[in-house]
Amino acid sequence: MKMKPLAPECGVEVEGVQLAEARGETLESIKQAIWEHGVAVFRDQELGPEAQIDFARAWGGIDINAYFPLDDRWPEIAVVRKRADQQTNIGGAWHTDHSYDQVPAMGSILAARVLPPTGGDTLFSHMGAAYDALSDDLKARIEDLSAFHTADHVYQEGGIYAQTDQGADLRGHEVRTGATHPVVIRHPRTGRRLLYVNPSFTIHFTGQTGAQSLPLMQELWAEAMKPAHQCRVVWQPGTVTIWDNRTTWHNALNDYQGHARELHRITLTGEPLAA
Ligand code: SIN
Repeated sequence: MKMKPLAPECGVEVEGVQLAEARGETLESIKQAIWEHGVAVFRDQELGPEAQIDFARAWGGIDINAYFPLDDRWPEIAVVRKRADQQTNIGGAWHTDHSYDQVPAMGSILAARVLPPTGGDTLFSHMGAAYDALSDDLKARIEDLSAFHTADHVYQEGGIYAQTDQGADLRGHEVRTGATHPVVIRHPRTGRRLLYVNPSFTIHFTGQTGAQSLPLMQELWAEAMKPAHQCRVVWQPGTVTIWDNRTTWHNALNDYQGHARELHRITLTGEPLAA
């Protein structure tokens, strides 16, 4: 197995491994790489839905997503789909999956199934690199803060997706979420300090209103969105990408109007977060 960086601060491409067979020490090395680099890309994978589920079970538990369409045959798989006639994609803004859960999902395994002829790349940003780049003053200001996260405004009836042509395909309009996390967490496995707020699901700092929180929140987001901390996954048939939701943000680009894109996502169970 060989690994080469996708970008200086984020991501690796892993060669010489089939995920369907990766177990034992190989799986441990893959986990370590994803915890450190945030995201790993695997090309030319033979990983159909059953094999994807088996691999996820070998990694650990599976968290079933409450909102995305499911396929009855494989309820563990959330279908990330944009039909050719739809304008809006899923995940087309910077976010980290499931930060609205008190024990957020560790990460996600996303397998390409249908790809547009060009475009539809996914951007990732490394939250350890973003935290390191903050000024000492900014680090001191966020040291003891926590923040509230929810997905209600995104998925509920009348929420963001309901205003779009994805609304009818999504589920869970009645689900209510809410979680409070430290703004700076330590990665549960590597110990690295990570910025843990994101523009899609983080609403306010604890003890402050949304309006009071916004100026500082925007300073943090501005650092987290800098291209220096990012890497880009260009999908190809057979590509599987696995990321760590604590270490990274991601953003699915919606630049392929008139074409379909479908990927299968399994969300991996995480562990409690701490400062
Ligand atoms: C997601 O946000 O999980 C989907 C990412 C993608 O479609 O590239």
